Amino acid sequence: MAIIGQEVEWLRHLFETGTLQEEKDREEFADSLKQIASQVDRCRDITHKLLNFARKMDPVMQAVELNKLIDEMAALVEKEAKLNNINIIREFQKDLPLVTSDPPFLRQVILNLLNNATYAIEANGAITISTKDNKDGRVEIAVVDTGRGIPKEHLKKIFDPFFTTKPPGKGTGLGLSICHGIIQRVGGTISVISQLDRGTTFTIRLPIAP
Ligand SMILES: Nc1ncnc2c1ncn2[C@@H]1O[C@H](COP(=O)(O)OP(=O)(O)OP(=O)(O)O)[C@@H](O)[C@H]1O
Ligand SMILES: [Mg+2]
Repeated sequence: MAIIGQEVEWLRHLFETGTLQEEKDREEFADSLKQIASQVDRCRDITHKLLNFARKMDPVMQAVELNKLIDEMAALVEKEAKLNNINIIREFQKDLPLVTSDPPFLRQVILNLLNNATYAIEANGAITISTKDNKDGRVEIAVVDTGRGIPKEHLKKIFDPFFTTKPPGKGTGLGLSICHGIIQRVGGTISVISQLDRGTTFTIRLPIAP
């Protein structure tokens, strides 16, 4: 919003000084408009995610076939991943018990994690997504990437709303805080371990029956 405000001031200045006859000024004018449009897109993205974040929707619990749900989300990002030579490897435990959970919420979590992993790898690497029965009333989902890793000083902050290392305009920093909120609401836990330049593992544990 601040950037949009500044650009509007600048446009007003260009307009009022009446110098728009000059090529250089017209270019600046066009640049400002482009900047405003891109910031409006960003505001839209942020508000959208904020609304999701703030929504006090209660989870609607039902029996979920986790392997199937995860497979569908992996298929969604797979095409683009392939273009960047990123392999998505599925290591699903057969006969995984059904969990009682909220499918749309879980889909969003898996998608956020896969998007983060893809972004962290950029190109040439692998994302391994696995499921297993922990035999303690919980199932475990792990998303392992071979990406850039997370520096120690960032690890404490990655679940905070608005924490992002993406360049301005590229990320909202809400992805992981949404994941965290959702997993808490469905009675699970989410944790992370990471090694710089090696990769990152996010582990979700979900109760079979909350
Ligand atoms: N798999 C990962 N590998 C390396 N860094 C990660 C990974 N996942 C998250 N991060 C770090 O955590 C930060 C916060 O992630 P989060 O998903 O909350 O926001 P974002 O990805 O930056 O923005 P958005 O989700 O809106 O696109 C990222 O900017 C990045 O620095
Ligand atoms: Mg993200």
